[in-house]
Amino acid sequence: MTELSSLENEILAAIAAAGDEAALEAVRVAALGKKGSVSERMKSLGAMSAEERKVWGPALNGLKDKIGTAIAERRTVLKEASLDARLAEERVDVTLPVRPGPADRGRIHPISQVMDEIAEIFADMGFRIAEGPDVETDYYNFTALNFPVGHPAREMHDTFFFHPDEAGERKLLRTHTSPVQIHTMEAEKPPIRVVIPGRTYRCDSDQTHTPMFHQLEGLVIDEQSHIGHMKWVLMEFCRAFFEVDHVEMRFRPSFFPFTEPSLEVDIRCDRRGNEIRFGEGDDWLEILGCGMVHPNVLRNCGLDPDRYQGYAWGMGIDRIAMLKYGMPDLRAFFDADVRWINHYGFRPLDLPTLAGGLSG
Ligand code: DAH
Repeated sequence: MTELSSLENEILAAIAAAGDEAALEAVRVAALGKKGSVSERMKSLGAMSAEERKVWGPALNGLKDKIGTAIAERRTVLKEASLDARLAEERVDVTLPVRPGPADRGRIHPISQVMDEIAEIFADMGFRIAEGPDVETDYYNFTALNFPVGHPAREMHDTFFFHPDEAGERKLLRTHTSPVQIHTMEAEKPPIRVVIPGRTYRCDSDQTHTPMFHQLEGLVIDEQSHIGHMKWVLMEFCRAFFEVDHVEMRFRPSFFPFTEPSLEVDIRCDRRGNEIRFGEGDDWLEILGCGMVHPNVLRNCGLDPDRYQGYAWGMGIDRIAMLKYGMPDLRAFFDADVRWINHYGFRPLDLPTLAGGLSG
């Protein structure tokens, strides 16, 4: 019997010392588990005489109950303590200043912002967005656009060519978004009214050129669109994009194989001082090329030039982004410098809308 009371003291002491629920469970298993110290003793009751059993039976059962109660009590205490600890640890000090969430910290790259602004302006004029592949064939990038074989204009594009494939065909990285004009005209019948934003590539790099850059192409094909419509669309675009009431534009004769006539467009600006101002001053800045789609291009897409006509334009997005937001070096666009993006980037929830203001 004294042996039983020292076992009891031992187990009760272990229960009291259990620091958490896992330790308590270990004590329970050691005492009351299948091979626990109390359980083993219960098993020995069978081998005892009736007299012995009368004494030992109630003693062991009493011990079992005592241990069960002590464990349950200790478990309640431990549960409460662990809840208190969690509450203390996860406590929120509501008097602290609010920390900015991820949406407030991240910034939208100016190119993405400018693309959204442009899409918003042209969508408002009834244009749809079209896209095409970055890797092109010579046919779509040049031939279908009326670049004659061997014509110097092909060289002027500083094209990145891939190695020829098994069929001997040399794919290339598109040098402009104009090939998407061809894909669009092949895929759908006029009336067509699309703008085509995308990446373009030329082997060139300095302060205002990067090997990868962005263009926006426009294409309108129907039975009566003429150069007057084109001028209006481009002027409205510039007014909306540069967020000024008046932009003075100059249309100069130029040459592109895929348009006839071809024009280049400059806007009047003032470049004295640190920033560029539009609509005033004595400088002219070239922003895009445009023209009436060449009959050969229409023919290459299976459209009858005696029935259909239209206009197209192409402009450098990076360039007009630099102009609008006063960013001096194009190469910084692609440096992934977090200080630059924090300075020049846009807040993600300030989506450009014509009604709410394009640039927030
Ligand atoms: N694709 C020309 C370039 O990258 C830009 C261009 C000029 C596009 C005139 C046009 C256009 O659609 O009509 O230099």
